[in-house]
Amino acid sequence: MNKRIVTTIMLFVALMICLVFVILFQSNSHTETEVDYVIGVSQPNLLEPWQISMNEEIQEEASKYHNIRVIYTDAAQNTQKQIDDIKTLKGYDIDLLIVSVEDSIAMTPVISKAYNEIPVIVLGRGVEGYNYTLYIGTDHFLIGEMAAEATTNLLGNQGGNVIEVQGLTSAVQAEERSRGFRENINQMKNIKIINTLVANWQRDKAEDELKALLKKSNDQPDLIYAHNDAMALGVYKALHSLDIDHIKIIGSDGVDKPNGGLQLVKQKKIDTTFITPTGGKQAIHYAIRILEEDTEIPKKIILRNHEVSSQNVEDFYHNRNDLTSHIENDEKVTLGFAQVGNESAWRSANTESIIKAAEQENVDLQLINANNNQEKQIAIIRDFIKQGVDVIAFSPMVENGWDEVLQEAKDAGIPVILCDREIKVQDDSLWTSFIGSDFVEEGRRAAQWVVDHKESNTETVNIIELEGTKSSAPATDRKQGFKEVSEHHPNLHIIDSLSGDFTLGKGKEMMEKALQQFGSEIDIVYSHNDDMAIGAIEAIEEYGLQPGFDIKIISIDATNKAFKALSAGKLNFTVECNPLLGPQIMQAAKELKNGTEIPMKIITSEETFTQEEAKKEIKKRNY
Ligand code: AHR
Repeated sequence: MNKRIVTTIMLFVALMICLVFVILFQSNSHTETEVDYVIGVSQPNLLEPWQISMNEEIQEEASKYHNIRVIYTDAAQNTQKQIDDIKTLKGYDIDLLIVSVEDSIAMTPVISKAYNEIPVIVLGRGVEGYNYTLYIGTDHFLIGEMAAEATTNLLGNQGGNVIEVQGLTSAVQAEERSRGFRENINQMKNIKIINTLVANWQRDKAEDELKALLKKSNDQPDLIYAHNDAMALGVYKALHSLDIDHIKIIGSDGVDKPNGGLQLVKQKKIDTTFITPTGGKQAIHYAIRILEEDTEIPKKIILRNHEVSSQNVEDFYHNRNDLTSHIENDEKVTLGFAQVGNESAWRSANTESIIKAAEQENVDLQLINANNNQEKQIAIIRDFIKQGVDVIAFSPMVENGWDEVLQEAKDAGIPVILCDREIKVQDDSLWTSFIGSDFVEEGRRAAQWVVDHKESNTETVNIIELEGTKSSAPATDRKQGFKEVSEHHPNLHIIDSLSGDFTLGKGKEMMEKALQQFGSEIDIVYSHNDDMAIGAIEAIEEYGLQPGFDIKIISIDATNKAFKALSAGKLNFTVECNPLLGPQIMQAAKELKNGTEIPMKIITSEETFTQEEAKKEIKKRNY
């Protein structure tokens, strides 16, 4: 063989060997980096189009990450199977669980147990309490309210009779949809709910139950509201088989698949549906952030629903890309922020977080302080509208009185983010998103501490409540949450509620007043924030009693001030209210500028602290 041919063959062989090595090395290094995290997904069923969509969304999003493996289980509508599925998933050593449930009551303890071991994302369908890492889903009470509004529109002035077809009774989402629907329908004089069927989310059960009911009853309804589209389709089938075609049908879910609600509306089989995002994409996105130990994970992400009826279904198909569109925009976002004031340590930390996040995120921030004056806050917002900023954000001083100025913002096409406090307006489309805490839950947690620390069920406990700014969301909600728990314990007496305006000075003044009137009869002070609690501590000491011992004190915020007072034994308990909202506000402002639909509500994650816990945590708390 000629030397050149031999050399060529040798070179070729060497090249092939190298190639094999490269491939082997690459695939080895690939398998090494391939799986950093294993995520378990427990589905309650894969029969309903909505649940199938959720799974597909999870799969699609997960396929973008090469370092995760996702294991899926399907409980086939059997709660015991779902409990076993979660055990099996844990047996596979999953790093995080994503779970969507049908039966909230049965699944709540199972999810709490899993949450003690690994992070858990509850998806689409809620459980009771807060024992999970993150809930992503919609506001089911709001869906019920939207269904009630659609009912009044469909029935018109003459009103009519309605049948409600409910999902599983032990499902939180069925209870909430029903409550939202009924609370609103009951206010209408000309609309009456004449019957209720429970069809457990199932199409065939809805069809059978309705057929049986209509055959034996003379009263025909004018409209049927089914808690999901699968049951709405069952309703349609029952009516069709009985040759009835004048009854309006409302469903919920709005999936764009054969037999999904969107297509049912298009085919005129049902009249209205509510597009209910499954949250599958967000679940994977947040799962990765949780696994990478991101510390800014919210507690709840409430996604937005859209009503689709025969009136707007064509437009919806035409425009729906707008809901998922994302225009890459290099321009700086201009954000006008109307801060409520500077009343507390919490507020200073909040303002600082907003300024810092704007710098880090390169947002052009104009932050103006309204000094706790609503008129001034409205004037600041008007000025932002005049300037044509991209996004307006504000922390509303009180709940009411914003309709007019927010309508002006809407007319000018400027989206509005509510920061830390919610509002009451006629039209909720006047604001785009709320980022903040669950103040009602904070009040409940404060009351729970009192319940857990009273000596007996008969011992009388006299409580002074120091309220925040009158008519502000935190004052109203913290009062409500406290009441929700305390009213079940008749020996807990709120002997006076005094407004300390969230300030130390006013808190002290109100406590002095209370001490003059009740003196050592006071057992507990429940303060709506730390600053007023510190004011109360000063007043109690000046009165000659020992705060934290003679009079127990609980507060909300968990700022550094509270941690010091807890460590010194002068405060007994604090409930956290997270002021570090800056990063989330900047992210939302940027997404709005890019035309992305953002969640309707982002609720922050919060803890509680006793004296012992505060001693351990105090160094970490820098605000
Ligand atoms: O809106 C949040 C509340 O406002 C804080 O709890 C209080 O300290 C503040 O001023």
